[in-house]
Amino acid sequence: MTKLDPIALDEQARAILRANDRGGYTVPTAGLYPYQWNWDSAFAAWGFATFDVTRAWDEVETLFSGQWPNGMVPHILFHRPDPGYFPGPDVWGAEDVGPVPSSGISQPAVAATFIRAIWEKDRAAGAAHLKTLFPKIKAWHRWFMEWREQDGMIFVSHPWEAGRDNCADWDSAMARLDPVGVGEYTRRDTSHVNPAMRPTKADYDRYIWLVQRGRRMGWDEAQMAVDRPFRVADPTLSFILLRANRDLAVMADALGEDRREIDEWTARLEAGAARLKNPETGIFDAIDLGDGRHTGHVTSASFLCWYAGVEDAKTLAALEKCFETTRYGVPSLSVQSPEFDGMRYWRGPTWAIINTLIGLGLADMGHHGHAERVRQMTRALIADHGFAEYFHPQTGDPAGGGTFTWTAAVWLAWASPSQGEN
Ligand code: GLC
Repeated sequence: MTKLDPIALDEQARAILRANDRGGYTVPTAGLYPYQWNWDSAFAAWGFATFDVTRAWDEVETLFSGQWPNGMVPHILFHRPDPGYFPGPDVWGAEDVGPVPSSGISQPAVAATFIRAIWEKDRAAGAAHLKTLFPKIKAWHRWFMEWREQDGMIFVSHPWEAGRDNCADWDSAMARLDPVGVGEYTRRDTSHVNPAMRPTKADYDRYIWLVQRGRRMGWDEAQMAVDRPFRVADPTLSFILLRANRDLAVMADALGEDRREIDEWTARLEAGAARLKNPETGIFDAIDLGDGRHTGHVTSASFLCWYAGVEDAKTLAALEKCFETTRYGVPSLSVQSPEFDGMRYWRGPTWAIINTLIGLGLADMGHHGHAERVRQMTRALIADHGFAEYFHPQTGDPAGGGTFTWTAAVWLAWASPSQGEN
């Protein structure tokens, strides 16, 4: 039974954001993730905006302070060295490419959507911030369209770029990689949390091999694009950028900026979204661009269509089925999948942030009952099991890092009863 004390939980969530605050940016959780992560920060900013709008703007501005000259906003900014994390700046070898030492790949573009939400909370306070950020966000979205788009779908060049590190969607493309010469290295993640909750060594060898390849090429996109060994069209990146472009266009109007280029991106991504629909299952999934095949996996990203403004009856039916079979959905891999593993990272567990995006999309598209269901599940999950990184979708057991920034942030901005109903 849920022992819900909303006031105490709101307090705890704010305390987590404050404790993970490193001055202008928050770490996802102390120890396991000691730097600034891209999409984590966008969620953090949205959470901060519920009680400190100024701090929310700081968070996104610090994120964009790491933007590369080519427009890319890195997935990790290594503001201060921390020996407890691997792979750190010395492995990425991108210290001199951008203004802040960073990784060489990006992450799902949720920032524009949450920047819009923060600005709408207080337009007068946000006007100057928005004006400065707008061209930066646009340059980042353009980078995606230039270097990560194919047939209107956005692909990942490294599993970490989707934010769903070891998801089953990458398996076929990962199997084709031969991580020869990757050498010896010491993982740090498995000393912070139980290795059974983390990606395997076979996965890690390939992650590092891809990083080494980018580093050899000086992270030059033109060079890397010639013969990419790993390319998977991804519903996370595609749906999220589609939504972000719509939000960016609204902000362009408010600023009196030209929105035509953004609208062209939106149209391309709308066409691409239709291609992500697997003709055999009728569900949106990933496409391994190495062989053109749909991966066939029903993941939580399959349910991001509404977030992107894409309606789909079959997916709604699949969501209803998920409500029946999964106590604390939406799982990162369907509980019916033979590959389902309820505790191993993106191969089964439920993530509150993905639920939030699914819920926001459902509400926007008028599916208020479904949206409320996703919200109630997420609310119960956090109220009963804490602000963990992720959770077992059947038992609710918390896993990964504890006192997690983005779980606290989405509690404050969306899951908490203090946010009202959809
Ligand atoms: C993991 C997650 C990724 C997240 C990061 C920090 O790598 O897969 O989505 O951004 O941790 O929380």
